[in-house]
Amino acid sequence: MEVVIAPAEELAVLAADAIESLLRRDPATVLGLATGSSPLKVYDELARRHEEAGLSFARARGFMLDEYVGLPADHPERYRNVIETEVASRVAWPSDQVQGPDGLADDLPAACAAYERAIADAGGVDLQLLGIGTDGHIAFNEPGSSLASRTRIKTLTRQTRLDNARFFGDDVEQVPQHCLTQGLGTIMEARHLVLLATGRHKAEAVHQLVEGPVSAMWPATVMQMHPHATVLVDDAAASRLQLADYYRQTYDSKPDWQGL
Ligand code: GLP
Repeated sequence: MEVVIAPAEELAVLAADAIESLLRRDPATVLGLATGSSPLKVYDELARRHEEAGLSFARARGFMLDEYVGLPADHPERYRNVIETEVASRVAWPSDQVQGPDGLADDLPAACAAYERAIADAGGVDLQLLGIGTDGHIAFNEPGSSLASRTRIKTLTRQTRLDNARFFGDDVEQVPQHCLTQGLGTIMEARHLVLLATGRHKAEAVHQLVEGPVSAMWPATVMQMHPHATVLVDDAAASRLQLADYYRQTYDSKPDWQGL
């Protein structure tokens, strides 16, 4: 696992560089998309590169991590709509090439199975962007999630609903109780995991993710088992890392050609 500690703007540039180099090598790259605040600067950077440098998503495929169950199709906080607003529409990404689990399906287990098949049929995800919840969840895999889990329905914790209430007029009761989420086993099949975390409120989750024992109590710790995982954090999110000096030194002495 590589840990990079830098200001948020630099982290976004690093993540965008990794995505751009994949797209330049293979325009039909499969990208894993995350919602939440953490990837927003990356999406801004991708939009800028699309505008100014012609970075094209015309042949790329996108798969979202998760979706709320039951939010109306036109609800602005439905994750499919968030992704459309924050990234897809800004980089002229054809709508039918970006998909998420269908939180409005009549048969939710069948929708989850179909989503797993769609990812597999696309050849799997090349690079998966991730954020992390304050309780250590990735996507919506809450504490206690099986480390081998696949796309399925989950119940959100009170903490996650409180954390996300800011997107619902600060009214926790408006935050759905259920979601569909890629499982930890699904996420682990992506070829490169890139997690972004900023702010002191993420420091404990980041410490557990990087330095804690692998445990379903901190679901993100499963990333320690991934052969190519990158953790991009600012000083505040890195403030509880025991080996922060070592991570800084390692990154400072990294050869330029290496990339993430
Ligand atoms: C949400 C999303 C996750 C996200 C996490 C952190 O609940 N389902 O994909 O990574 O919480 O969100 P944020 O980046 O806004 O802190």
